[in-house]
Amino acid sequence: MTVVAIDGPAGAGKSTVARAVADELGFTYLDTGAMYRGIALAAAERRVAPATIASTLKIEPGERILVDGRDVSDEIRTPEVSEAASRAAADPEVRRAVVEQQRRLIAAGDWVAEGRDIGTVVAPDAEVKVFLTADPEERARRRAVELGLDPARVLAEQTIRDERDRTREHSPLEPAAGAVVLDSTHMSLREVVARIAELVPGTRG
Ligand code: DC
Repeated sequence: MTVVAIDGPAGAGKSTVARAVADELGFTYLDTGAMYRGIALAAAERRVAPATIASTLKIEPGERILVDGRDVSDEIRTPEVSEAASRAAADPEVRRAVVEQQRRLIAAGDWVAEGRDIGTVVAPDAEVKVFLTADPEERARRRAVELGLDPARVLAEQTIRDERDRTREHSPLEPAAGAVVLDSTHMSLREVVARIAELVPGTRG
């Protein structure tokens, strides 16, 4: 069993990179942010606090994201859910429930898991830990292109979420001990993927 942990702020390219690394190595990709998003969406719909449903909600993070059997892959990508997910992720009760599910999932098989606390909390023994980052303006530009939104608005909202993710008391965003820090601002996707794949034992590199 091998785990590649890729952490870093929003818009650093984690999802695209993690998917590509998983494809290249034949590992399974895990989008852990989608789990916080799924809980935030369900909580908003039910008008309850995310912590009240975090441990009972059935989240299946695969090719499509299922919450209690319903495909919410597109709904969880709106700016409103981004904001709600960032708030939900600051709640230690929510984190405890989600981390437990994630550890169960990655206990068997080979994974590329992407998020904010994979190398620090979820899988501190991961064989490979990467902290992927990029300049804030570049991260906002990439997200704006991806989502068809105004870059200035994305940057403003991203700044608030970055600050919350970095300064929250529980599992703040920071590079794990032993993580390789990669700044993707001036790197192509292929370069980033190649650098990470080289770090994985038993593959090329
Ligand atoms: O990566 P993302 O934008 O889909 O993540 C959504 C929110 O969840 C974001 O505010 C950060 C938070 N998150 C987290 O705290 N821990 C993770 N492992 C993944 C995401």
